[in-house]
Amino acid sequence: MMSVTTLPESGAASALLPEPDTESGTRGAPQVPPKNLFEPAMLGRYRLPHRIAMAPLTRSRARQPGNVPAALNALYYRQRSSAAVIIAEATQISMQGQGYAWTPGIHSREQVEGWRLVTDAVHAAGGRIILQLWHVGRISHPALQPDGMLPVAPSAIKPTGMAFIENEKGEGEMVPFETPRALLAEEIPYLVQQYVRGAANAMEAGFDGVEVHGANGYLLDQFLSPRANRRNDRYGGPVENRARLLLEVVRAVSQVWGKDRVGTRLSPLGSFNDVGDDDPQSTFSYVVDKLSDFGLGYLHVINPAAAAVEKQTRPDPAALEMLALIRGKFHGPLMLAGGFNRDTAEAWLAHGKADVIAFGREFIANPDLPERFRIGAHINLPDPSTYYGGGAKGYTDYPTLAQERGEAPKPVVDESWR
Ligand SMILES: Cc1cc2nc3c(=O)[nH]c(=O)nc-3n(C[C@H](O)[C@H](O)[C@H](O)COP(=O)(O)O)c2cc1C
Repeated sequence: MMSVTTLPESGAASALLPEPDTESGTRGAPQVPPKNLFEPAMLGRYRLPHRIAMAPLTRSRARQPGNVPAALNALYYRQRSSAAVIIAEATQISMQGQGYAWTPGIHSREQVEGWRLVTDAVHAAGGRIILQLWHVGRISHPALQPDGMLPVAPSAIKPTGMAFIENEKGEGEMVPFETPRALLAEEIPYLVQQYVRGAANAMEAGFDGVEVHGANGYLLDQFLSPRANRRNDRYGGPVENRARLLLEVVRAVSQVWGKDRVGTRLSPLGSFNDVGDDDPQSTFSYVVDKLSDFGLGYLHVINPAAAAVEKQTRPDPAALEMLALIRGKFHGPLMLAGGFNRDTAEAWLAHGKADVIAFGREFIANPDLPERFRIGAHINLPDPSTYYGGGAKGYTDYPTLAQERGEAPKPVVDESWR
């Protein structure tokens, strides 16, 4: 890996790098905790004890049949309750909203009761948990849809790539996408109602808030994207139209929860799931202005400079410009995710580029990630072959520091942080 000292000392890029006296990876003796990561922060109505959030992570381990969260999922989340806040995995708001095998839902009674096990476990351990509300739009397949129907989308445009379904043998299988059905304008109020029902169910299930998934090329991002959205009604064309559904959903969900317990996730400059935009500055300028004026509890952004942060190379100027635009326009708490480690996260917070950093893969493999960051302990690597599907292996069997050292278990949340 490139040494940080070979990178420029001044200008925007240096602000993204760790302080020169730190190094990533394994550390020896306990150190002074990173100051900024361990400052309390406000996220909507909540006071967070530190700034290390758990990013939403699909793990495709809901109980079957019915995509129901169960005891294993409750254990997984409980183990990670020392996160400043957990953003629980993307969760479909309807059968139509499902795009991958074995992901949990929040539309049936059983699912609400299943999620209750999770939220109770996290709260009993001293944590907080927000549910990510998900509709995948065209990133699905008839095999996952009610009555084998076509997935829905802003326009009948087939995305490139493959869907992850369960085959007849009960195994996961990748199959090509099909051309989706374009939603009728008259259907859109019912779509918004799916989000409202998901939001109300999330409240009943005991969550602390909801995050509207507007990122990664799923339904709301498909509407934002001129590449996926070719409509010529009031939901397509100019940005005011492409953003309409996202803003309607945020408004409707906030009527259930109150604005200060609702966040939105966006992935500006992202191309995952075949979305794209020739003028992302105009799109995100409009969307972020609107979300800020609305008074959204927090904005969660997938860092367009994630790859550079991870490799510790100089980010693309377009990514830095986008980040500056968002930071300038959004006047509430900004959560940033993508490619961070302890030192890069600390540096970005120190430079005021975000208020909270969300960690994904590091939380998969390190249930006690904040404690490891606090004392500068080593960070275990996750095994990508166990990301999706399966049971406890690669899910609830990553050890805490106490387990690694053969010590007695400690409380999940260190009360001195609160
Ligand atoms: C296994 C896996 C599952 C993911 N599932 C979701 C998800 O459900 N919702 C979402 O918004 N992002 C999801 N992401 C993206 C993460 O939230 C995060 O943005 C990404 O992993 C980058 O952060 P990291 O570098 O700290 O891992 C997923 C990523 C991984 C690796």
